[in-house]
Amino acid sequence: MKKLLLAYLLGCFTVSFAQRTTVQLEKWNFSRDSISWTEVSVPHDWAIAGPFDKKWDLQNVAIEQNGETEKTEKSGRSGALPWIGKGYYKTTVSIPANYSAVQLFFDGAMSEPTVRVNGQPAGYWAYGYNAFRIDITPFVHQGDNLVEVSLNNVEESSRWYPGGGLYRPVQLTVFGTEGQQQHFDDWGLYVRTLKADAKQAQLSIDAVLVNGTKANQVELALSDSKHVQQKVMMKRVADGRYHADIVVKNPQLWSPETPYLYDLVLTAYNNSSRKVVLDALNRRVGIRTVSVSKENGFQLNGVTRKIKGVCLHHDLGPLGAAVNKAALIRQIRIMKEMGCDAIRTAHNMPSTWQMEICDSMGMMVMAESFDMWIYPKCQNGYARFFNDWSDRDIENLVLNHRNHPSIVMWSIGNEIPEQWSEEGREIARHLQDICHRLDPSRPVTQGMDKAEDALKSGFAQVMDVPGFNYRVHKYDNNIKQLPQGFLLGSETASTVSSRGVYRFPVEISDHATYPDGQCSSYDTEYCSWSNLPDDDWKWQDDKEWVIGEFVWTGFDYLGEPTPYDEYWPSRSSYFGICDLAGLPKDRYYLYRSRWRNDVHTIHLLPHWTWPGREGVVTPVYCYTDYPEAELFINGKSQGRVHKNVSERLDRYRLRWNDVRYEPGELKVVVYDGQGMKAGEQTVLTAKTPARLVLDPDRTTISADGNDLSFVTVSLTDQQGTLIPAAADQLTFKVDGNGRFLAACNGDATSTQSFTQPVMRLFNGQLVVVVQADHTPGSLTLTVTDRQRNLTGEVTIQTR
Ligand code: GAL
Repeated sequence: MKKLLLAYLLGCFTVSFAQRTTVQLEKWNFSRDSISWTEVSVPHDWAIAGPFDKKWDLQNVAIEQNGETEKTEKSGRSGALPWIGKGYYKTTVSIPANYSAVQLFFDGAMSEPTVRVNGQPAGYWAYGYNAFRIDITPFVHQGDNLVEVSLNNVEESSRWYPGGGLYRPVQLTVFGTEGQQQHFDDWGLYVRTLKADAKQAQLSIDAVLVNGTKANQVELALSDSKHVQQKVMMKRVADGRYHADIVVKNPQLWSPETPYLYDLVLTAYNNSSRKVVLDALNRRVGIRTVSVSKENGFQLNGVTRKIKGVCLHHDLGPLGAAVNKAALIRQIRIMKEMGCDAIRTAHNMPSTWQMEICDSMGMMVMAESFDMWIYPKCQNGYARFFNDWSDRDIENLVLNHRNHPSIVMWSIGNEIPEQWSEEGREIARHLQDICHRLDPSRPVTQGMDKAEDALKSGFAQVMDVPGFNYRVHKYDNNIKQLPQGFLLGSETASTVSSRGVYRFPVEISDHATYPDGQCSSYDTEYCSWSNLPDDDWKWQDDKEWVIGEFVWTGFDYLGEPTPYDEYWPSRSSYFGICDLAGLPKDRYYLYRSRWRNDVHTIHLLPHWTWPGREGVVTPVYCYTDYPEAELFINGKSQGRVHKNVSERLDRYRLRWNDVRYEPGELKVVVYDGQGMKAGEQTVLTAKTPARLVLDPDRTTISADGNDLSFVTVSLTDQQGTLIPAAADQLTFKVDGNGRFLAACNGDATSTQSFTQPVMRLFNGQLVVVVQADHTPGSLTLTVTDRQRNLTGEVTIQTR
């Protein structure tokens, strides 16, 4: 059918085909001991089900980047989940007759994957985060073939939760099923925009035809959603190498606001008669330019913009490291709704699905590679491999991802300890050169944390984009020494908070901890090396040479529970703008009030249900883009306040610091720059808990066995006001065409397994993830609160 369709599109029924077939290998048998096996679906993370235990990867270390000099016990540093040790996967693949070549593509495998085919060693890759390909042609035969992958995760190899297993897709591609030897090399394709404006764009396209001969011809077709824009024969520049320069009139330029994609189809023919199609390659591509300069800062399509970015670790909270398209899409949607326009894939290579989603949804990307080079940040980290593998790792990063319009820069490292040395500088130059060689179209950066050292050694001056992590007070000194004439906040803020937790008195602190292992959501707590969002914005607003920021982090992630690195059972981060379940913390609205310029934001905090605090000072903040507001409690004015450029916390927030709590109604009325009333928001004191409210992010999902709906569960009173301190134990049941997959409440100190259908609310809320099976119909999630005799139910359609 596919072939017929393609033939139809090509406008000719007489050609014969010898194209590739690519399948994603989903069904595998998995074992931790190679004795007892279970069936699993890949992507798969063997460790996410838990149990949580401090004994997994218990590290007795001093975290040097945090300025520690004495070793102490770090219990949740890499997530307190059982990811260490070996894991084995096997599957059978069927190879048809007349194949010419067979390839396996791994988008990443955690970690040190060794691949055997029919019992013979076929390949290995050291780094768990990178994509790699193995030509398995010499080891296969027509019919059934056994593919085995063994993985090995060693302790103290990570500063966060890496996960374990085949956590990203594995693909099998069979080429030339009618005996033709030629096929496109996917990584030989290189599409770049040389110039673009509203009138026209110039694209340069390179392609590689493996085993290509003089006679072979390659046709290129570029189409938009309506029609074919360009159809040209590519020029053969050498055997198997083809090039085309094309001009696109009135191009639809790609940007976060207009993520327009074109379809590129390359078709290889045996000769000029074009009767036999050897192979075809389809890609979605974008037209856009990226540049950085002293004069204009960072530009996309020739327009200067300050990057509104967040750093994201690779885990998907309760789903662990196993990638899932619906979960990745949800992450990007939540970030976009905040006004975020870029992500940094901290501190490693992203998944291909994530990049495809960033292309189609409109999210710029800094694609990163390493958290260390030669000098280890943790005893068994990537430093073990750097000398032998780093060139290959950077090559695979660039080759696998260079056609994604979303990627606007490469990053060769994060807080590399070698910043101070000449050797470090030369490694930086070398890695950057590899990026330039394979992709001259994008600038290269890295995140530096030791500004003085990096400037003294020349490490910072070498980079296309000098990126500095935190320490904004050094920016002024840094810029004086940078020939580039601009700098990027490659990592900013590291403000810490727990959703729904408020501490009194409200104080600014760079080291606050509390007996319950939580942080305050007044957004005034951060780490000794970091700062508040307001501190970053001051620099971005006042200095045009600051080209933007990547906040640490968009979502909480598993591991690195600073400031509770030594506190058990703390096992996930507090840095997130959203919690581990993806629920926004208050800080989400602080960023939204600055980053969204198409809609207004009015957000009041804290909640207004404080039995026992009657008459006690309970500060109220409003996160809004408006300059001024008046606050009322039960109709009594608490005063009208303005933003104040010269006060640290008053430039971007509106605050009433002396408010005394009184139950009832808290209301804010905001005023615009002309002093006109522009909107209001009300928060009520909650009454008796009465309802479980279920709010799915999607009410219709695909019946494809993978698609997800994320259902937010809230305990409220009869009117729908959240019961903000509720910690009720809930149970979950799914009936119909789907299953319960995971639950998460965003509590960094919870040891309840994500994969069991029972969990406590954290400050009144949690998220349940349900997954469709393969049968179209519907699934119903029932949530029960036995303690209060309440149930809630939601039905999701599956198509
Ligand atoms: C940075 C580091 C990140 C994370 C963060 C926490 O220095 O690059 O990986 O550890 O600190 O604040």
